[in-house]
Amino acid sequence: MTTARLTPHERAAHLRATQLRRLVGLVEHDDAADPFPVVGMDAVEFVCGNATQTAHYFASAWGMTLVAYSGPETGLRDHKSFVLESGSARFVLSGAVDPASPLADHHRRHGDGVVDLALEVLDVDRCIEHARRHGAVVLDEPHDLSDDHGTVRIAALAAYGSTRHTLVDRSRYRGVYLPGYEPRSSVRTRRPGSPERVFAALDHAVGNVEMGRMNHWVRFYNEVMGFTNMAEFVGDDIATEYSALMSKVVANGNHRVKFPLNEPAVGRKRSQIDEYLDFYGEPGCQHLALATDDILASVDALRAEGVEFLATPDAYYDDPLLRARIGRVRVPVAELRSRGILVDRDEDGYLLQIFTKPLGDRPTVFFELIERHGSLGFGKGNFKALFESIEREQATRGNL
Ligand SMILES: [Fe+2]
Repeated sequence: MTTARLTPHERAAHLRATQLRRLVGLVEHDDAADPFPVVGMDAVEFVCGNATQTAHYFASAWGMTLVAYSGPETGLRDHKSFVLESGSARFVLSGAVDPASPLADHHRRHGDGVVDLALEVLDVDRCIEHARRHGAVVLDEPHDLSDDHGTVRIAALAAYGSTRHTLVDRSRYRGVYLPGYEPRSSVRTRRPGSPERVFAALDHAVGNVEMGRMNHWVRFYNEVMGFTNMAEFVGDDIATEYSALMSKVVANGNHRVKFPLNEPAVGRKRSQIDEYLDFYGEPGCQHLALATDDILASVDALRAEGVEFLATPDAYYDDPLLRARIGRVRVPVAELRSRGILVDRDEDGYLLQIFTKPLGDRPTVFFELIERHGSLGFGKGNFKALFESIEREQATRGNL
């Protein structure tokens, strides 16, 4: 079996294989030879200070669809969780109801953030056995969860900080998300003129780890999950005067799952990774990149809802070297400039991208929108322009 075939979830989201190849760089992969076959991302779970309102924000501003809910009304006593989808991307937003809930303490320490990058796998037991043999910490042993819609096999591994990777085999399950959740839809209707969806899939999830720990986590994904290293490597050669970092990228066999890993490097002042680590309190997920077919329409829809993006300096678009480097893209540069969208190009093609300001109160997790046209990179050429923009923000918070 090859996992480049569409999953039932992707088919239900009306995605096509050609579209996913372009959007997220999906490639053919032989699962039989893979010690830890990962189908793709299953869900991203956030802990929120107010999951009820965050669910409203993701629906109203990001156009996501509420599909499931679990909470006191469904027999869950200490917290509530809302499940929202956009295309094949699935977010679970959890918040404490009971002050004694571990989520309340988690939120006090870390603020809003990502706690689980859940992966859909073909064989939970085989993955856990392989992971354990390679030194991974097993947080939840494989077990079944069942309801009227079938059975899910599930387990969890520890990753950087308190981030976990829940492993889910949902091949024998037909329910909306997991046993314990009930279907829920929102009363909200899409505004006239807004795109059908703001994003279609999750492209990558970036982890920030401590100085000197990047290679440890690259090895973790290599050995424990059989992930391979992608070409992009960012050393301090492209760092700005202040914000030095190092970055490497690991990916699963079919490239649906791509995890860039950043660590701070020595700079003249504290880097954006240091700022993240200070305010999150430990390593964690820095940003999620959301794939879109039409980044212009996505940005326009988000701005209309008040979502704020990092400003791109005018100089970025005036730079003749940059103009020469990016070559021809599908829209006039003026269209990108008016929205602050960045461009990067490599030997395979180009990509368009833009970054939001932090989503919550702390300067930690944020989103990226990405529209790929052949390039399988992550915007390395934009790092310098981006860092300078981030640093202007960091300076206004007094953290530079
Ligand atoms: Fe990114």
